[in-house]
Amino acid sequence: MSAIDTQSQANETAMLSVRGLAKSFGGLKAINDVSFDVRPGEVTALIGPNGAGKTTVFNLVTNILARDAGRVVFAGRDLANLSPVEIANLGLVRTFQSARVFPGMTAIENVMVGGHRLGRHSLAGQALWLWRAREEERRTRQRAGEMLELVGLSGFAGMHATELPMGAQKLLEVVRALMAQPKLLCLDEPAAGLNDTETQELANLLRAIRKLGIPVLVVEHNMSLVMNVADRVVVIDSGAIIATGTPAEVQNNNRVIEAYLGKEDHGAS
Ligand SMILES: Nc1ncnc2c1ncn2[C@@H]1O[C@H](COP(=O)(O)OP(=O)(O)OP(=O)(O)O)[C@@H](O)[C@H]1O
Ligand SMILES: [Mg+2]
Repeated sequence: MSAIDTQSQANETAMLSVRGLAKSFGGLKAINDVSFDVRPGEVTALIGPNGAGKTTVFNLVTNILARDAGRVVFAGRDLANLSPVEIANLGLVRTFQSARVFPGMTAIENVMVGGHRLGRHSLAGQALWLWRAREEERRTRQRAGEMLELVGLSGFAGMHATELPMGAQKLLEVVRALMAQPKLLCLDEPAAGLNDTETQELANLLRAIRKLGIPVLVVEHNMSLVMNVADRVVVIDSGAIIATGTPAEVQNNNRVIEAYLGKEDHGAS
């Protein structure tokens, strides 16, 4: 097992380098000295029992929450003082734990919204060359259609997104995030609410994303998905990292086993 790097210096070769992250809510130390890396081209899973602090890490990395201490470097850039939107525009794109599709839009329109960041036309350029904007719209629609096909959602393309089954809505959110051609994709429990077939489609999608060279940081409770898809696993418990390594290494780590067994005793379904 590789040692957890707790040095405050960021890892220059990592796509995302988190060092010494800390956050308290009132008296509760929710995140305590959390350090980990996401390497280029890899799927990194962030796992841990309920309430361990996984979503809070996402919120701190994307500056939705202000951190008490620590440093986050993404693609060589320190994210301190950047807004969540600025961070997204740098190519760090995330999804949320509860599916958020845009109501009043069809499934394919929801996916197309994700491609918006890539619009290359200035306002003047759009006015002068409307046909180019239309051409770009056509290409975006085509790409969105291909993405829906990739995850087996083509049949839903014209339906209102909110009418899709919950599992399909979650896949839609991943696909929409992908449309922005992120440099790093952060997914918070993408398999929650998915049935077995949809989970399999998600696994295929994650592998396809890795093949595209896009690194993924995924929070996930579905262990077979994590073990099948992740290159590296980071384990957090009570706000602290307790293990990092390959899926096989982490699976056999005593602290990890104890963290999970301890919670199972208390009736997690
Ligand atoms: N905004 C907040 N205010 C107060 N406490 C919070 C806030 N956000 C999170 N917490 C607390 O911080 C801890 C970590 O929560 P977090 O949502 O990050 O856990 P998680 O690992 O994502 O859990 P789950 O697997 O259930 O999604 C919990 O004790 C939670 O109650
Ligand atoms: Mg969470």
